[in-house]
Amino acid sequence: MISARNKTRLLKALLIFLGLVPFWLLLYAMLTDQLGANAIQTLHFRLGDWALRFLLLGLALTPIKIITQQAWPLRYRRILGLLAFFYASLHVLVYVALDLSWSWTAFIDEVSKSPYILLGLLTYVLLVPLAITSTKAMQKRLARRWLVLHSLVYVAALTACLHYLWLVKLDISQPLLYLGLLGILLAVRVDRFNRNRSVGRLKH
Ligand code: HEM
Repeated sequence: MISARNKTRLLKALLIFLGLVPFWLLLYAMLTDQLGANAIQTLHFRLGDWALRFLLLGLALTPIKIITQQAWPLRYRRILGLLAFFYASLHVLVYVALDLSWSWTAFIDEVSKSPYILLGLLTYVLLVPLAITSTKAMQKRLARRWLVLHSLVYVAALTACLHYLWLVKLDISQPLLYLGLLGILLAVRVDRFNRNRSVGRLKH
């Protein structure tokens, strides 16, 4: 019989494996020249897409916990967050290394010229401390401050959606869909927060 602890470990390993599938597929497509005429742009876009998807998937776990009243979804939050950070880092790396050929003056120029790139940068700057402090040890060390810091993930998700919405020129349905999903996830959280507050008031 497989123990609950081993089951969680197995599911975590499976999640990491599945989460890295888009990366391997993109790498394969790149090495076999299947990314189309504008390979760097396609690679860059796909990595940005996956970063945003994993960010939103990670955020979906708390509402799932609230609705199902089960604690298990939260065990997988860190992995999804780190997968989002992994894809976001590659997205930035492809942009700086392949698009701008490591030219930091070009990067500063792009950031100052385009508000959507500034939003992308802001998103990434927000994700860095979240990734660094995502360990159990850091959670213990920072105690309540950890919760405050990690609520910044909602700001990061919002700036990531706006980054996407701003850069799209024609069909804005996809970024609007992501923004709508984020709105729903936030609404479930705020609703639970308000309910807890009213229960707290009734008790006092
Ligand atoms: C320094 C940070 C970042 C920079 C400089 C940056 C830059 C860019 C650029 C230049 C584009 C393509 C725009 C175009 O050619 O029209 C883009 C697209 C995109 N980025 Fe970023 N980005 C950054 C961070 C992020 C982060 C952290 C996320 C998500 C968490 C993200 C998600 C996306 C998405 C979803 C797209 C659109 C992909 C598509 O059209 O399919 N970006 N980004």
